[in-house]
Amino acid sequence: MTLFRTDLLKAGPPADISVPRKKNMMCLNESVLDPYQTIDEAFHQNMQQVHLNRYFSGVTSELKKLLVDYVGHGITGENLLWGNGADDMLFAAFLAVRENNDAFALSLAPSYFDYSTYSQAAGLGIRFMDFLPGFDFDEKEYVKVLNSDNCRLGILCNPNNPTGHLLSDEKILYVLNNTRKPVLLDETYFEFSGITWVDRIKDFSNLLIVRSFSKSFSAAGLRFGYIVSQPQNIVELRKVQTIFNTSIMVQTFVMTMLMNKDLFLRHTREAVALKKSLYEEMQGIEGLKSYPSHTNFVTFSAGERSAALFEHLKNNDIAIRDVGAHRLLKNCLRVSVGSLEQNRYFIDQVKAFFAA
Ligand SMILES: Cc1ncc(COP(=O)(O)O)c(C=O)c1O
Repeated sequence: MTLFRTDLLKAGPPADISVPRKKNMMCLNESVLDPYQTIDEAFHQNMQQVHLNRYFSGVTSELKKLLVDYVGHGITGENLLWGNGADDMLFAAFLAVRENNDAFALSLAPSYFDYSTYSQAAGLGIRFMDFLPGFDFDEKEYVKVLNSDNCRLGILCNPNNPTGHLLSDEKILYVLNNTRKPVLLDETYFEFSGITWVDRIKDFSNLLIVRSFSKSFSAAGLRFGYIVSQPQNIVELRKVQTIFNTSIMVQTFVMTMLMNKDLFLRHTREAVALKKSLYEEMQGIEGLKSYPSHTNFVTFSAGERSAALFEHLKNNDIAIRDVGAHRLLKNCLRVSVGSLEQNRYFIDQVKAFFAA
């Protein structure tokens, strides 16, 4: 008899985000814009109507209206459920689909590291199907596994982290047209690609779209994400959330961000332009192979010298992420787009490494 679930005991220690803490944090796909400093006055103004001693606040319905408007494509408040970041929404989806000990989710690989963290937390197994070389995927094989007895959920990350690429529209459509299992489309980086499937929510009763305020809205530390799906799915997903899941203060802050959304969307456009020049500069460096990206990061490899490059950057106050664990990304590193100055400094340091 153990104190905790036996599968947890078997699972080993909790996930540890082992990134170096450096002056130039270019490792977690964060934004360089601090949203608090940008909208603090408006936020404090909006907080005047909030009473933190109360469970309920009118802010919730105001936020819902603004989010409905932001998501667009004819969705209503009944299509939405929010929580503490996209991670929390993934966790909710995993909890809500888990049927028994044999149930599992299916993801392509390499993809977001924490699909396995949260599926494990929810007691849901997870299986990975490798991308083909060039990061295409075998949609027929994917659907075959998805439609197998114990598979409860298909996960597709679009654009995909950590490769940065977009999945083909035809293949996503093939999956949706050929399964009745829930398909979770992770659109955490959609604002950088401009590609979304929200307009297809009405067509597919099994489509769950997960989004985040951590990337384009610059609010990784705030913790806010949401799911868009058909109303009957939202009702079921709501059942696995705690009742007062998202703090009223966070809701007020998100409401204020949405009232000032142009500012954040402009910043996103700037980040896309900066990423483009970063990628172009990286392509010009001999010894580096960089992958095109539809996100706010660039994945690249320096071959056998990647580990030394990682150390060199770390010693020069730049933190990036090692994403080389999967065979398709052997020796790969990932750099998040920074400010103009940070990107320049990064390029200078990479050039200095190769020149030494
Ligand atoms: C693909 C993907 N999904 C989900 C998340 C989690 O985002 P959040 O900060 O909203 O929990 C991340 C974070 O990096 C991500 O890359």
